[in-house]
Amino acid sequence: MDNLRAKMEFAASFLNKRLSCPPKVGIILGTGLGGLTAKITEQVVIPYKDIPYFPRATVKGHAGKLVSGQLAARPVVAFGGRFHYYEGYTMGEITFPIRVMQLLGIKYLIITNAAGGMNPDFTTGDLMIIQDHINLMGDNPLIGPNDPELGPRFPELSQAYNYELRQLAIRKAAEAGISVKKGVYVAVPGPNFETPAELIFLARIGGDAVGMSTVPEVIAACHAGLKVLGISCITNKADGHHPHAADHEEVLAAAARAGGRLQQLVELVVSDL
Ligand code: HPA
Repeated sequence: MDNLRAKMEFAASFLNKRLSCPPKVGIILGTGLGGLTAKITEQVVIPYKDIPYFPRATVKGHAGKLVSGQLAARPVVAFGGRFHYYEGYTMGEITFPIRVMQLLGIKYLIITNAAGGMNPDFTTGDLMIIQDHINLMGDNPLIGPNDPELGPRFPELSQAYNYELRQLAIRKAAEAGISVKKGVYVAVPGPNFETPAELIFLARIGGDAVGMSTVPEVIAACHAGLKVLGISCITNKADGHHPHAADHEEVLAAAARAGGRLQQLVELVVSDL
């Protein structure tokens, strides 16, 4: 624990010296959704490999760099590239960026991902405001000794995805004519895409979308007391009846098509924070 704390503090103080101003909003960009960084002005770009103790992104579609600056006149720090459980990272490594942002003093976390749509009303390219999640990863970033300075031993997750932020996103989307769905995100470890029987099971237990990320970061962010907004980009049908299996190229192509709308929505939400 002491070791983790020391690493976090070292990484945060490294960044503090380089960022132009203290960020208020942290943004994590999911698979194929990194385009938002182009909208950030007064950019300071720092490759993950330069940040002390930062894990490195290995998946195609993830840039592996931090971009800080202004988005909609708000100081932000955006992470283009996240760490997945299926890559072999520990939960501590996956949530390290959240802990660094916590020390940098951010108040809001906007987290995006690519996900399979299990809800029959969802189609490829839909944006889903995450209402809640189900953690089926079989692990949790808070397991182990708790550091009370970082957060409580038994954090409350009844509003993991902040109600006001969800309402703000829904209102901004409606004003801009961007259609959004709402739903529950189920996190599985991956890396295989689900079997049809698994998809039917996940839908029956209340899932609307399925993916392999986000939940560890959101658990750590809630522990840190951050207000979280989560948005999934539905990159493929995952209803257990669909004849075409999901593949990574399809996910990347769909994320690229929906990216513009997602970026616009994130920028609109940030403008009100
Ligand atoms: N399953 C799990 N993760 C995903 C999917 C999916 O169908 N699409 C994008 N990420």
